[in-house]
Amino acid sequence: MFPVIDLFAGPGGLNEGFSSVKDERGDFVFKTLASFEMDSLACQTLRLRATYRELVRSGGDLQPYFDYIQGKNTWQSTLTGDFREAYLAAKSHVYQVELGEKNRPEVDNFIERQLGPENRRGHWALIGGPPCQAYSLAGRSRRTGDEAFASDHKHFLYREYLHILGKFKPTIFVMENVKGLLSSKNGDSSMFQTILSDLKRLPGGASYEIRSLVVEADPKDLDPSDFIIRSEEYGVPQKRHRVILLGVRSDVAAIIPRLVLDKADGPVTVRAALQTMPSIRAQTSGRKPKVDQDWRAVQADALSHVRTIDVASKPEPVKAGVLAVDSYESWILDDRLTVPVHHEPRAHMVSDLARYRVMAELAERLGKSPKYIDLPAKLHPEHRNVGKVGTPFTDRFRVQVWDAPATTVVSHISKDGHYYIHPDPEQNRSFTVREAARLQSFPDNYFFEGARTQQFHQVGNAVPPLLSRQIGDVVADMLGSLKD
Ligand SMILES: C[S@@+](CC[C@H](N)C(=O)[O-])C[C@H]1O[C@@H](n2cnc3c(N)ncnc32)[C@H](O)[C@@H]1O
Repeated sequence: MFPVIDLFAGPGGLNEGFSSVKDERGDFVFKTLASFEMDSLACQTLRLRATYRELVRSGGDLQPYFDYIQGKNTWQSTLTGDFREAYLAAKSHVYQVELGEKNRPEVDNFIERQLGPENRRGHWALIGGPPCQAYSLAGRSRRTGDEAFASDHKHFLYREYLHILGKFKPTIFVMENVKGLLSSKNGDSSMFQTILSDLKRLPGGASYEIRSLVVEADPKDLDPSDFIIRSEEYGVPQKRHRVILLGVRSDVAAIIPRLVLDKADGPVTVRAALQTMPSIRAQTSGRKPKVDQDWRAVQADALSHVRTIDVASKPEPVKAGVLAVDSYESWILDDRLTVPVHHEPRAHMVSDLARYRVMAELAERLGKSPKYIDLPAKLHPEHRNVGKVGTPFTDRFRVQVWDAPATTVVSHISKDGHYYIHPDPEQNRSFTVREAARLQSFPDNYFFEGARTQQFHQVGNAVPPLLSRQIGDVVADMLGSLKD
Protein backbone atom coordinates (compact mmCIF):
# COMPACT_ATOMS: atom_id res chain seq x y z
CA MET A 1 0.00 0.00 0.00
CA PHE A 2 1.18 3.51 -0.75
CA PRO A 3 1.33 5.78 2.29
CA VAL A 4 -0.65 9.03 2.28
CA ILE A 5 -0.19 12.09 4.47
CA ASP A 6 -3.07 14.58 4.61
CA LEU A 7 -2.50 18.23 5.56
CA PHE A 8 -5.33 20.63 6.59
CA ALA A 9 -7.44 17.50 6.53
CA GLY A 10 -10.84 19.05 7.45
CA PRO A 11 -13.52 16.38 7.82
CA GLY A 12 -11.60 14.12 5.42
CA GLY A 13 -13.29 14.51 2.02
CA LEU A 14 -10.04 14.28 0.08
CA ASN A 15 -8.84 11.43 2.23
CA GLU A 16 -12.07 9.47 1.83
CA GLY A 17 -11.57 9.23 -1.92
CA PHE A 18 -7.97 8.06 -1.66
CA SER A 19 -8.81 5.58 1.10
CA SER A 20 -11.41 3.86 -1.04
CA VAL A 21 -9.20 3.19 -4.09
CA LYS A 22 -8.68 -0.50 -4.79
CA ASP A 23 -6.48 -2.27 -7.32
CA GLU A 24 -7.65 -4.88 -9.82
CA ARG A 25 -7.30 -7.62 -7.18
CA GLY A 26 -9.65 -5.69 -4.89
CA ASP A 27 -6.93 -4.65 -2.43
CA PHE A 28 -6.79 -1.14 -1.00
CA VAL A 29 -4.05 0.92 -2.64
CA PHE A 30 -3.47 3.67 -0.06
CA LYS A 31 -3.00 3.82 3.68
CA THR A 32 -3.23 7.12 5.51
CA LEU A 33 -0.37 7.44 7.97
CA ALA A 34 -1.15 10.94 9.24
CA SER A 35 -3.89 13.58 9.01
CA PHE A 36 -3.15 17.04 10.38
CA GLU A 37 -6.01 19.36 11.32
CA MET A 38 -6.49 22.05 13.97
CA ASP A 39 -10.25 21.91 14.48
CA SER A 40 -11.15 19.51 17.26
CA LEU A 41 -14.56 18.48 15.87
CA ALA A 42 -13.15 17.87 12.40
CA CYS A 43 -10.50 15.71 14.15
CA GLN A 44 -13.25 13.73 15.88
CA THR A 45 -14.93 13.20 12.52
CA LEU A 46 -11.60 12.04 11.05
CA ARG A 47 -10.99 9.63 13.93
CA LEU A 48 -14.42 8.08 13.65
CA ARG A 49 -14.08 7.63 9.90
CA ALA A 50 -10.59 6.19 10.28
CA THR A 51 -12.07 3.69 12.78
CA TYR A 52 -14.71 2.68 10.26
CA ARG A 53 -12.02 2.07 7.66
CA GLU A 54 -9.89 0.13 10.09
CA LEU A 55 -12.87 -2.14 10.80
CA VAL A 56 -13.62 -2.57 7.08
CA ARG A 57 -10.01 -3.45 6.35
CA SER A 58 -9.59 -5.84 9.28
CA GLY A 59 -12.99 -7.50 8.80
CA GLY A 60 -14.12 -6.33 12.27
CA ASP A 61 -17.70 -5.98 13.49
CA LEU A 62 -19.25 -2.84 11.95
CA GLN A 63 -22.56 -2.98 13.81
CA PRO A 64 -21.41 -0.74 16.71
CA TYR A 65 -20.37 1.91 14.16
CA PHE A 66 -23.78 1.81 12.46
CA ASP A 67 -25.58 1.87 15.81
CA TYR A 68 -23.59 4.90 16.90
CA ILE A 69 -24.12 6.96 13.76
CA GLN A 70 -27.85 6.22 13.75
CA GLY A 71 -28.15 7.39 17.34
CA LYS A 72 -28.96 3.92 18.69
CA ASN A 73 -25.95 3.77 20.96
CA THR A 74 -23.93 6.25 23.02
CA TRP A 75 -20.25 6.77 22.40
CA GLN A 76 -19.41 5.16 25.70
CA SER A 77 -21.24 1.93 25.02
CA THR A 78 -19.86 1.87 21.47
CA LEU A 79 -16.27 2.04 22.61
CA THR A 80 -15.75 -1.62 23.43
CA GLY A 81 -14.43 -4.78 21.73
CA ASP A 82 -13.39 -4.62 18.06
CA PHE A 83 -14.54 -1.04 17.77
CA ARG A 84 -12.31 0.09 20.62
CA GLU A 85 -9.28 -1.71 19.16
CA ALA A 86 -9.89 -0.12 15.77
CA TYR A 87 -10.46 3.29 17.32
CA LEU A 88 -7.18 3.17 19.21
CA ALA A 89 -5.31 2.16 16.06
CA ALA A 90 -7.03 4.82 13.95
CA LYS A 91 -6.90 7.62 16.49
CA SER A 92 -3.15 7.79 16.62
CA HIS A 93 -2.97 8.87 12.94
CA VAL A 94 -5.08 11.97 13.44
CA TYR A 95 -2.96 14.77 14.81
CA GLN A 96 -4.68 17.90 16.08
CA VAL A 97 -2.28 20.78 15.58
CA GLU A 98 -2.15 24.27 14.14
CA LEU A 99 0.24 23.95 11.20
CA GLY A 100 2.60 26.88 11.16
CA GLU A 101 6.23 27.76 11.65
CA LYS A 102 6.05 27.41 15.43
CA ASN A 103 4.82 23.81 15.32
CA ARG A 104 7.06 22.57 12.51
CA PRO A 105 9.37 20.50 14.76
CA GLU A 106 6.53 18.44 16.27
CA VAL A 107 4.85 17.98 12.88
CA ASP A 108 8.14 16.94 11.26
CA ASN A 109 8.81 14.46 14.07
CA PHE A 110 5.39 12.94 13.69
CA ILE A 111 5.78 12.52 9.93
CA GLU A 112 9.26 11.09 10.42
CA ARG A 113 7.90 8.55 12.89
CA GLN A 114 4.85 7.65 10.82
CA LEU A 115 6.73 7.23 7.57
CA GLY A 116 9.63 5.37 9.13
CA PRO A 117 12.94 4.90 7.32
CA GLU A 118 11.49 2.34 4.92
CA ASN A 119 8.63 4.50 3.64
CA ARG A 120 10.78 7.60 3.39
CA ARG A 121 12.66 5.86 0.60
CA GLY A 122 9.53 4.40 -1.01
CA HIS A 123 6.77 6.05 -3.00
CA TRP A 124 3.97 7.94 -1.28
CA ALA A 125 1.61 10.90 -1.69
CA LEU A 126 1.05 14.15 0.16
CA ILE A 127 -2.51 15.48 -0.15
CA GLY A 128 -4.45 18.46 1.18
CA GLY A 129 -5.26 22.08 0.60
CA PRO A 130 -4.03 25.06 2.57
CA PRO A 131 -7.10 26.91 3.89
CA CYS A 132 -8.87 29.01 1.38
CA GLN A 133 -10.60 31.96 3.07
CA ALA A 134 -7.72 34.29 2.29
CA TYR A 135 -8.02 33.56 -1.44
CA SER A 136 -11.76 33.23 -1.74
CA LEU A 137 -13.47 35.93 -3.76
CA ALA A 138 -16.17 36.39 -1.10
CA GLY A 139 -13.58 36.70 1.66
CA ARG A 140 -11.64 39.26 -0.36
CA SER A 141 -14.59 41.45 -1.23
CA ARG A 142 -15.65 41.59 2.42
CA ARG A 143 -12.19 42.81 3.38
CA THR A 144 -11.31 45.22 0.60
CA GLY A 145 -9.02 47.94 1.92
CA ASP A 146 -8.33 46.04 5.11
CA GLU A 147 -4.56 46.27 5.62
CA ALA A 148 -4.42 43.36 8.01
CA PHE A 149 -5.74 41.24 5.15
CA ALA A 150 -2.57 41.74 3.09
CA SER A 151 -0.50 40.25 5.88
CA ASP A 152 -3.02 37.55 6.79
CA HIS A 153 -0.95 34.50 7.74
CA LYS A 154 -3.50 32.31 5.92
CA HIS A 155 -2.04 33.65 2.68
CA PHE A 156 1.16 31.90 3.56
CA LEU A 157 0.00 28.63 5.06
CA TYR A 158 0.88 26.99 1.75
CA ARG A 159 4.48 27.37 2.92
CA GLU A 160 3.79 24.65 5.50
CA TYR A 161 2.90 22.45 2.58
CA LEU A 162 6.10 23.46 0.77
CA HIS A 163 8.17 22.88 3.87
CA ILE A 164 6.92 19.26 4.09
CA LEU A 165 7.45 18.75 0.36
CA GLY A 166 11.02 20.00 0.67
CA LYS A 167 11.83 17.98 3.75
CA PHE A 168 10.13 14.66 2.96
CA LYS A 169 9.95 14.73 -0.84
CA PRO A 170 6.82 12.63 -1.53
CA THR A 171 6.67 11.13 -5.02
CA ILE A 172 3.39 12.88 -5.79
CA PHE A 173 1.34 15.61 -4.19
CA VAL A 174 -2.21 16.87 -4.69
CA MET A 175 -2.92 20.44 -3.60
CA GLU A 176 -6.47 21.78 -3.66
CA ASN A 177 -7.61 25.37 -3.42
CA VAL A 178 -10.41 27.75 -4.30
CA LYS A 179 -10.56 29.30 -7.76
CA GLY A 180 -9.89 32.72 -6.21
CA LEU A 181 -6.26 31.61 -5.83
CA LEU A 182 -5.80 32.26 -9.56
CA SER A 183 -6.64 35.96 -9.22
CA SER A 184 -5.36 36.55 -5.67
CA LYS A 185 -2.50 39.02 -5.27
CA ASN A 186 0.14 39.57 -2.66
CA GLY A 187 1.15 43.18 -3.32
CA ASP A 188 1.81 43.29 -7.06
CA SER A 189 2.54 39.62 -7.55
CA SER A 190 0.07 36.87 -8.32
CA MET A 191 -0.26 34.36 -5.46
CA PHE A 192 -0.66 31.55 -7.97
CA GLN A 193 2.55 32.38 -9.84
CA THR A 194 4.38 32.79 -6.53
CA ILE A 195 3.26 29.33 -5.43
CA LEU A 196 4.23 27.79 -8.78
CA SER A 197 7.69 29.29 -8.70
CA ASP A 198 8.15 28.34 -5.03
CA LEU A 199 7.32 24.75 -6.01
CA LYS A 200 10.18 24.80 -8.48
CA ARG A 201 12.81 25.66 -5.91
CA LEU A 202 11.98 23.98 -2.68
CA PRO A 203 14.18 23.89 0.40
CA GLY A 204 16.54 20.89 0.18
CA GLY A 205 16.74 21.09 -3.61
CA ALA A 206 13.60 19.06 -4.42
CA SER A 207 11.52 20.17 -7.37
CA TYR A 208 8.19 19.13 -8.86
CA GLU A 209 6.62 19.07 -12.27
CA ILE A 210 3.18 20.63 -11.89
CA ARG A 211 0.52 18.86 -13.93
CA SER A 212 -3.14 19.37 -14.62
CA LEU A 213 -5.62 16.61 -13.82
CA VAL A 214 -7.89 17.63 -16.68
CA VAL A 215 -5.62 18.82 -19.53
CA GLU A 216 -3.04 16.38 -20.85
CA ALA A 217 -0.68 19.02 -22.33
CA ASP A 218 3.01 19.35 -21.59
CA PRO A 219 3.18 21.05 -18.15
CA LYS A 220 5.12 23.99 -19.60
CA ASP A 221 2.23 24.76 -21.96
CA LEU A 222 -0.47 24.84 -19.29
CA ASP A 223 -2.51 27.96 -18.54
CA PRO A 224 -3.68 28.74 -15.00
CA SER A 225 -7.26 27.89 -16.03
CA ASP A 226 -6.13 24.35 -16.94
CA PHE A 227 -5.87 23.62 -13.23
CA ILE A 228 -9.57 24.25 -12.61
CA ILE A 229 -11.61 21.12 -11.99
CA ARG A 230 -15.37 21.40 -12.41
CA SER A 231 -16.81 18.77 -10.09
CA GLU A 232 -20.09 18.52 -12.00
CA GLU A 233 -18.17 17.11 -14.99
CA TYR A 234 -17.03 14.18 -12.85
CA GLY A 235 -20.30 12.86 -11.45
CA VAL A 236 -20.65 15.18 -8.44
CA PRO A 237 -24.13 16.78 -8.24
CA GLN A 238 -22.70 20.22 -7.61
CA LYS A 239 -21.04 23.02 -9.59
CA ARG A 240 -17.96 23.24 -7.45
CA HIS A 241 -14.94 24.65 -9.26
CA ARG A 242 -11.58 24.28 -7.58
CA VAL A 243 -7.93 24.65 -8.48
CA ILE A 244 -6.10 21.36 -8.06
CA LEU A 245 -2.38 20.99 -8.68
CA LEU A 246 -0.82 17.60 -9.19
CA GLY A 247 2.91 17.61 -8.47
CA VAL A 248 5.24 14.85 -9.64
CA ARG A 249 8.78 14.80 -8.24
CA SER A 250 11.12 15.82 -11.04
CA ASP A 251 13.45 12.81 -10.80
CA VAL A 252 10.59 10.44 -11.69
CA ALA A 253 8.43 12.77 -13.81
CA ALA A 254 9.79 11.41 -17.08
CA ILE A 255 8.70 7.85 -16.28
CA ILE A 256 5.32 8.62 -14.70
CA PRO A 257 2.65 8.82 -17.43
CA ARG A 258 0.58 11.98 -17.79
CA LEU A 259 -2.90 10.83 -16.84
CA VAL A 260 -6.09 12.88 -16.54
CA LEU A 261 -9.57 12.28 -15.14
CA ASP A 262 -12.26 10.74 -17.36
CA LYS A 263 -15.34 12.90 -17.75
CA ALA A 264 -18.72 11.45 -16.75
CA ASP A 265 -21.36 10.71 -19.42
CA GLY A 266 -23.51 13.58 -18.13
CA PRO A 267 -24.32 15.45 -14.94
CA VAL A 268 -25.79 14.07 -11.75
CA THR A 269 -28.70 16.37 -10.94
CA VAL A 270 -30.17 17.43 -7.61
CA ARG A 271 -33.10 15.14 -8.43
CA ALA A 272 -30.81 12.13 -8.88
CA ALA A 273 -28.99 12.98 -5.67
CA LEU A 274 -31.95 13.69 -3.42
CA GLN A 275 -34.90 11.74 -4.74
CA THR A 276 -34.26 8.83 -2.37
CA MET A 277 -34.25 11.05 0.74
CA PRO A 278 -37.41 10.78 2.87
CA SER A 279 -39.68 13.86 2.64
CA ILE A 280 -39.74 16.01 5.75
CA ARG A 281 -41.04 19.50 6.58
CA ALA A 282 -39.40 22.24 8.58
CA GLN A 283 -40.65 23.29 11.99
CA THR A 284 -41.52 26.93 12.58
CA SER A 285 -39.05 28.67 14.86
CA GLY A 286 -40.42 30.92 17.56
CA ARG A 287 -38.39 33.88 16.25
CA LYS A 288 -40.44 36.90 15.30
CA PRO A 289 -40.18 38.23 11.74
CA LYS A 290 -39.16 41.88 11.37
CA VAL A 291 -42.34 42.78 9.53
CA ASP A 292 -45.55 42.10 11.38
CA GLN A 293 -48.15 40.73 8.94
CA ASP A 294 -50.34 37.73 8.36
CA TRP A 295 -47.81 35.49 6.64
CA ARG A 296 -50.36 32.84 5.70
CA ALA A 297 -52.36 35.39 3.75
CA VAL A 298 -49.21 36.86 2.16
CA GLN A 299 -48.12 33.39 1.08
CA ALA A 300 -51.57 32.51 -0.30
CA ASP A 301 -51.67 35.78 -2.26
CA ALA A 302 -48.19 35.27 -3.65
CA LEU A 303 -48.95 31.68 -4.66
CA SER A 304 -52.06 32.64 -6.56
CA HIS A 305 -50.00 35.22 -8.42
CA VAL A 306 -47.20 32.71 -9.11
CA ARG A 307 -49.67 30.19 -10.53
CA THR A 308 -50.72 32.63 -13.24
CA ILE A 309 -47.17 33.03 -14.57
CA ASP A 310 -46.71 31.79 -18.11
CA VAL A 311 -44.23 28.90 -18.20
CA ALA A 312 -43.87 28.67 -21.97
CA SER A 313 -40.19 29.58 -21.85
CA LYS A 314 -39.28 26.95 -19.27
CA PRO A 315 -35.94 25.43 -20.36
CA GLU A 316 -35.65 21.74 -21.21
CA PRO A 317 -34.46 19.87 -18.12
CA VAL A 318 -30.82 18.79 -18.22
CA LYS A 319 -30.45 15.08 -19.00
CA ALA A 320 -28.60 13.28 -16.24
CA GLY A 321 -25.77 10.93 -17.21
CA VAL A 322 -27.03 7.35 -16.87
CA LEU A 323 -23.66 5.85 -15.94
CA ALA A 324 -22.82 8.85 -13.75
CA VAL A 325 -26.01 8.41 -11.72
CA ASP A 326 -25.32 4.68 -11.37
CA SER A 327 -21.81 5.26 -10.05
CA TYR A 328 -23.03 8.06 -7.80
CA GLU A 329 -25.73 5.86 -6.27
CA SER A 330 -23.45 2.95 -5.67
CA TRP A 331 -20.98 5.33 -4.01
CA ILE A 332 -23.57 7.04 -1.77
CA LEU A 333 -26.17 4.46 -0.79
CA ASP A 334 -25.73 1.96 2.02
CA ASP A 335 -28.42 -0.59 2.76
CA ARG A 336 -26.99 -1.27 6.20
CA LEU A 337 -28.54 2.04 7.33
CA THR A 338 -32.09 1.76 8.63
CA VAL A 339 -32.59 5.51 9.23
CA PRO A 340 -30.98 8.42 7.39
CA VAL A 341 -28.19 10.10 9.32
CA HIS A 342 -28.16 13.93 9.82
CA HIS A 343 -31.53 14.35 8.10
CA GLU A 344 -33.34 16.64 10.53
CA PRO A 345 -34.82 19.89 9.21
CA ARG A 346 -33.81 23.26 10.59
CA ALA A 347 -36.54 25.40 12.11
CA HIS A 348 -37.28 28.55 10.09
CA MET A 349 -39.14 31.78 10.83
CA VAL A 350 -42.68 31.88 9.47
CA SER A 351 -41.67 34.72 7.12
CA ASP A 352 -38.78 32.70 5.64
CA LEU A 353 -41.02 29.67 5.23
CA ALA A 354 -43.43 31.80 3.19
CA ARG A 355 -40.53 33.00 0.99
CA TYR A 356 -39.18 29.47 0.55
CA ARG A 357 -42.61 28.13 -0.35
CA VAL A 358 -43.29 30.78 -2.98
CA MET A 359 -39.78 30.66 -4.40
CA ALA A 360 -39.80 26.85 -4.68
CA GLU A 361 -43.09 26.95 -6.54
CA LEU A 362 -41.82 29.72 -8.79
CA ALA A 363 -38.63 27.73 -9.48
CA GLU A 364 -40.68 24.68 -10.40
CA ARG A 365 -42.56 26.73 -12.97
CA LEU A 366 -39.55 28.59 -14.35
CA GLY A 367 -37.11 25.68 -14.30
CA LYS A 368 -34.57 27.94 -12.58
CA SER A 369 -34.24 29.73 -9.29
CA PRO A 370 -36.18 33.01 -9.32
CA LYS A 371 -34.28 36.15 -8.46
CA TYR A 372 -35.14 37.50 -5.08
CA ILE A 373 -36.35 40.63 -6.82
CA ASP A 374 -39.06 38.50 -8.53
CA LEU A 375 -40.79 38.02 -5.21
CA PRO A 376 -43.84 40.13 -4.41
CA ALA A 377 -42.83 43.11 -2.25
CA LYS A 378 -44.65 41.82 0.80
CA LEU A 379 -42.25 38.90 0.95
CA HIS A 380 -39.15 41.10 1.06
CA PRO A 381 -37.48 41.41 4.42
CA GLU A 382 -37.41 44.97 5.70
CA HIS A 383 -34.02 46.06 4.49
CA ARG A 384 -33.07 49.30 2.80
CA ASN A 385 -30.82 47.64 0.24
CA VAL A 386 -33.21 45.00 -1.02
CA GLY A 387 -34.02 45.54 -4.66
CA LYS A 388 -31.04 47.76 -5.44
CA VAL A 389 -29.00 46.20 -8.20
CA GLY A 390 -25.57 45.06 -7.08
CA THR A 391 -26.31 44.72 -3.40
CA PRO A 392 -25.49 41.38 -1.82
CA PHE A 393 -29.08 41.11 -0.60
CA THR A 394 -30.75 40.72 -3.98
CA ASP A 395 -29.58 37.13 -4.32
CA ARG A 396 -29.68 36.11 -0.71
CA PHE A 397 -32.24 33.42 -1.44
CA ARG A 398 -31.84 30.62 -3.93
CA VAL A 399 -33.80 27.50 -4.76
CA GLN A 400 -31.65 24.57 -5.84
CA VAL A 401 -33.53 23.31 -8.88
CA TRP A 402 -34.28 19.63 -9.47
CA ASP A 403 -32.87 19.19 -12.94
CA ALA A 404 -29.34 20.56 -12.65
CA PRO A 405 -26.38 20.04 -10.35
CA ALA A 406 -26.58 22.27 -7.23
CA THR A 407 -24.58 25.46 -6.89
CA THR A 408 -21.48 25.27 -4.67
CA VAL A 409 -22.08 24.06 -1.14
CA VAL A 410 -19.99 26.42 0.97
CA SER A 411 -19.31 26.40 4.69
CA HIS A 412 -21.56 29.47 5.00
CA ILE A 413 -24.45 27.01 4.72
CA SER A 414 -23.94 26.66 8.49
CA LYS A 415 -25.23 30.25 9.00
CA ASP A 416 -28.63 30.02 7.30
CA GLY A 417 -30.33 27.94 4.65
CA HIS A 418 -31.49 30.76 2.36
CA TYR A 419 -29.19 29.77 -0.47
CA TYR A 420 -30.10 26.10 -0.25
CA ILE A 421 -33.89 26.07 -0.48
CA HIS A 422 -35.28 22.62 -1.21
CA PRO A 423 -36.89 22.44 -4.68
CA ASP A 424 -39.98 20.61 -3.38
CA PRO A 425 -42.46 23.34 -2.30
CA GLU A 426 -44.33 20.79 -0.18
CA GLN A 427 -41.27 20.18 1.99
CA ASN A 428 -40.92 23.92 2.46
CA ARG A 429 -37.45 24.09 3.99
CA SER A 430 -33.74 24.37 3.38
CA PHE A 431 -31.41 21.40 2.97
CA THR A 432 -30.49 19.14 5.84
CA VAL A 433 -26.88 18.26 6.63
CA ARG A 434 -27.36 14.91 4.88
CA GLU A 435 -28.66 16.55 1.72
CA ALA A 436 -25.70 18.94 1.68
CA ALA A 437 -23.45 15.93 2.27
CA ARG A 438 -25.05 14.12 -0.69
CA LEU A 439 -24.46 17.14 -2.93
CA GLN A 440 -20.86 16.95 -1.78
CA SER A 441 -20.90 13.20 -2.58
CA PHE A 442 -20.18 12.01 0.96
CA PRO A 443 -21.40 8.42 1.38
CA ASP A 444 -24.57 8.16 3.50
CA ASN A 445 -22.62 6.30 6.18
CA TYR A 446 -20.21 9.24 6.70
CA PHE A 447 -20.79 10.84 10.09
CA PHE A 448 -19.88 14.43 11.04
CA GLU A 449 -19.27 15.13 14.72
CA GLY A 450 -20.49 18.25 16.51
CA ALA A 451 -23.71 20.26 16.53
CA ARG A 452 -25.57 20.95 13.28
CA THR A 453 -23.72 24.20 12.59
CA GLN A 454 -20.35 22.48 12.81
CA GLN A 455 -21.58 19.57 10.74
CA PHE A 456 -22.63 21.96 7.97
CA HIS A 457 -19.31 23.74 8.26
CA GLN A 458 -17.36 20.52 7.80
CA VAL A 459 -19.48 19.41 4.85
CA GLY A 460 -19.03 22.75 3.08
CA ASN A 461 -15.25 22.73 3.57
CA ALA A 462 -14.52 19.40 1.95
CA VAL A 463 -13.29 18.16 -1.40
CA PRO A 464 -16.13 16.00 -2.83
CA PRO A 465 -15.07 12.43 -1.99
CA LEU A 466 -16.33 11.04 -5.29
CA LEU A 467 -14.06 13.47 -7.12
CA SER A 468 -11.13 12.66 -4.85
CA ARG A 469 -11.76 8.97 -5.46
CA GLN A 470 -11.13 9.60 -9.17
CA ILE A 471 -8.04 11.63 -8.38
CA GLY A 472 -6.91 8.77 -6.15
CA ASP A 473 -7.39 6.33 -9.05
CA VAL A 474 -5.15 8.48 -11.27
CA VAL A 475 -2.50 8.80 -8.57
CA ALA A 476 -2.66 5.04 -7.92
CA ASP A 477 -2.01 4.36 -11.62
CA MET A 478 0.85 6.85 -11.66
CA LEU A 479 2.53 5.36 -8.60
CA GLY A 480 1.77 1.86 -9.87
CA SER A 481 3.70 2.61 -13.06
CA LEU A 482 6.85 2.92 -10.97
CA LYS A 483 6.62 -0.66 -9.78
CA ASP A 484 6.75 -2.17 -13.29
C1 LIG B 1 -10.78 23.57 3.10
S1 LIG B 1 -10.66 22.70 4.59
C2 LIG B 1 -9.91 21.20 4.06
C3 LIG B 1 -10.84 20.22 3.50
C4 LIG B 1 -10.24 18.84 3.29
N1 LIG B 1 -9.17 18.83 2.31
C5 LIG B 1 -11.33 17.86 2.86
O1 LIG B 1 -11.33 17.43 1.73
O2 LIG B 1 -12.19 17.56 3.70
C6 LIG B 1 -9.31 23.49 5.39
C7 LIG B 1 -9.09 22.96 6.80
O3 LIG B 1 -7.85 23.51 7.27
C8 LIG B 1 -7.97 23.67 8.67
N2 LIG B 1 -6.92 24.63 9.08
C9 LIG B 1 -6.89 25.96 8.88
N3 LIG B 1 -5.72 26.47 9.31
C10 LIG B 1 -5.01 25.44 9.81
C11 LIG B 1 -3.74 25.33 10.42
N4 LIG B 1 -2.97 26.39 10.56
N5 LIG B 1 -3.33 24.13 10.83
C12 LIG B 1 -4.13 23.03 10.68
N6 LIG B 1 -5.35 23.06 10.12
C13 LIG B 1 -5.79 24.25 9.68
C14 LIG B 1 -9.38 24.17 8.86
O4 LIG B 1 -9.82 23.91 10.19
C15 LIG B 1 -10.15 23.36 7.80
O5 LIG B 1 -10.70 22.21 8.36
